[in-house]
Amino acid sequence: MEVYLYDGEEGHVENKEISQAVVSRLPRYFRYLGELKDEGIERISSQELSDIMHVTASQIRQDFNNFGGFGQQGYGYKVEYLYEEIGKLLGLDRTHNLIIIGAGNLGQALANYMNFERRGFLFRGMFDNNPALYGKEIKDMKIMPMEEMESFVKENQIDIAVLTIPKNSAVAVAERLVSCGIRGIWNFAHVDLNVPKGIQVENVHLSDSLMKLAYNINQFGQENAL
Ligand code: NAI
Repeated sequence: MEVYLYDGEEGHVENKEISQAVVSRLPRYFRYLGELKDEGIERISSQELSDIMHVTASQIRQDFNNFGGFGQQGYGYKVEYLYEEIGKLLGLDRTHNLIIIGAGNLGQALANYMNFERRGFLFRGMFDNNPALYGKEIKDMKIMPMEEMESFVKENQIDIAVLTIPKNSAVAVAERLVSCGIRGIWNFAHVDLNVPKGIQVENVHLSDSLMKLAYNINQFGQENAL
């Protein structure tokens, strides 16, 4: 992630590369700040945020300093301002057009989840290669054949594709998506995609999270067992 920071000198803007570790913490900050805002809390110190989020206050300050610090003055940060600024960094001040490739169990479940829309992620179309599914409607979207994907992406300014197909065809489909101008792939297929520089891929493996849970149960669960 690249951000442009004004460093105080006139005409001088620093182009700074932000580490993925910092980027991966931003959604969590955004979520907690949203809750604080909804509770009517106007200001919060890094120490208070640290207590709620179980992240050290110095980690929070370091993370925020990557983006100019978000103007902590006197007592803490302004919650609403911080929420909005982090939202902008996450691209949530604009909408994103998405398509889903693979209208099976997972694809349909994602299409039916309403909260993505609230954040500006708009599902515009679903594609599959199973003719039995063509024309079936999921949340106002008709499932379309793969042959229509390229023209749909171009005509509807689609920027993100969600890949919920088996791994054996995911690489080839990703290549097609890249050639028709997709900018990001939310990849649920269990395979690494080799895409050109400039195309963003976010891999999601729910089973990794489950295995991490199982590891922790095995390693630490016994100590606290009754
Ligand atoms: P599913 O079998 O219900 O759906 C897959 C759909 O993809 C089917 O409708 C099929 O016709 C379609 N499809 C297959 N090849 C295609 C192609 N080349 N082009 C277009 N459509 C194609 O399977 P489910 O449960 O929805 O899972 C989908 C994939 O996601 C599976 O490969 C599974 O391993 C993976 N998965 C990944 C998870 C993760 O956390 N990363 C979690 C659950 C599933």
